[in-house]
Amino acid sequence: MTPIQNCLINNKTTNTPIWLMRQAGRYLPEFREIRKSNPNFINLCLNEELSSEITLQPLKRFNLDAAIIFSDILMLPFALNQKVEFKKNFGPELGNLDLNKIFKVDEVDFVKKLYPIYKSINKVSKNNLLKNKDLIGFVGAPWTLLVYMINKHSPKKKLIKDFFKDKFLINKILIILEKFLKIHIEQQIKNGATVIQIFDSWAGLLEEKDLPNYIYIPTLNLVNHIKLLNVPVICFPRGIKNYKTFCQIIKPNAINIDYDIDPVSISQQIEIPIQGGLDPKILLSDKENLKKETLKYLNIFKDHPYIFNLGHGVVPETNPEMVKYLVGLVKDY
Ligand code: CP3
Repeated sequence: MTPIQNCLINNKTTNTPIWLMRQAGRYLPEFREIRKSNPNFINLCLNEELSSEITLQPLKRFNLDAAIIFSDILMLPFALNQKVEFKKNFGPELGNLDLNKIFKVDEVDFVKKLYPIYKSINKVSKNNLLKNKDLIGFVGAPWTLLVYMINKHSPKKKLIKDFFKDKFLINKILIILEKFLKIHIEQQIKNGATVIQIFDSWAGLLEEKDLPNYIYIPTLNLVNHIKLLNVPVICFPRGIKNYKTFCQIIKPNAINIDYDIDPVSISQQIEIPIQGGLDPKILLSDKENLKKETLKYLNIFKDHPYIFNLGHGVVPETNPEMVKYLVGLVKDY
């Protein structure tokens, strides 16, 4: 059994496993090199050869316990016929949401459109670098995808005015998302993903009263579906504040925490395996500080099933040397 599976399924950690959100990406010169000649990000995600190579890049450099497939949560609205573009220094920009276009997509079209992603997963899963390691498949949570589909770009700190105006539209989209997210997850697992992570990056934008409708119910449906497929699932409801209630309701195999939450109180409140926490900006400081902060998390969770990770993705300004140092610290602990 892999170290991550041992933690997620048996709730045991002998040596703390480590992988990093956005471990494949812009902080790596070898990724930037490929990106230079591939200006269209969506096409890059749909290029089986290049996406599998990018997925493996961090594993060639660092002793990580998992690869995360190089793709994006916004490949889902793309496959549902909503226009998605990634603009330099701006991020994603989506086209208008047109229910008629979305209704035209059936399961066969959807799988066909994302087929290169599944082939890439299949290819990576057979690579020797993955021996005794996990291949993490992922999806955006229904809420976070809804945010992008309606808001049409990253919301920064708040949603557009009138976000909730068209409840009919919102409810329809949530039903469609659930159907296609299940298909997307099944295909990733069928092709070799051994763990699924659900990213709910904008969970923190909701008021408490809206959590059941937009987060708890749709996420629970997905988590239960993944459990039926016998694959462990990690949830990352970034900024949700009440992680304890989330875990009691959703019961994922593990919960990824963000860096605003106090790890000491989390370790006391939550019994299930915990992942992550370290502020990715610490990787921009110096080795001494990185060591201090890394040991802080390792010590707090030394008697708790724990997977080392960050409280959000690696930022582009990160020096790969610092990532190497971090992985060494965790492995030597
Ligand atoms: O290494 C990995 O973690 C796997 C690949 C991965 C990407 N995106 C590649 C990517 C994963 C897991 C994601 C998830 C994702 N995408 C999330 C959830 C996690 C989070 O960061 O909150 C979200 C919200 C998105 C949507 C998205 N994609 C945004 C907002 C942006 C632009 C800003 C940014 O953070 O880069 C992207 C682009 C994107 N996705 C890049 C990469 C490597 C950068 C593309 C480039 O080279 O310009």
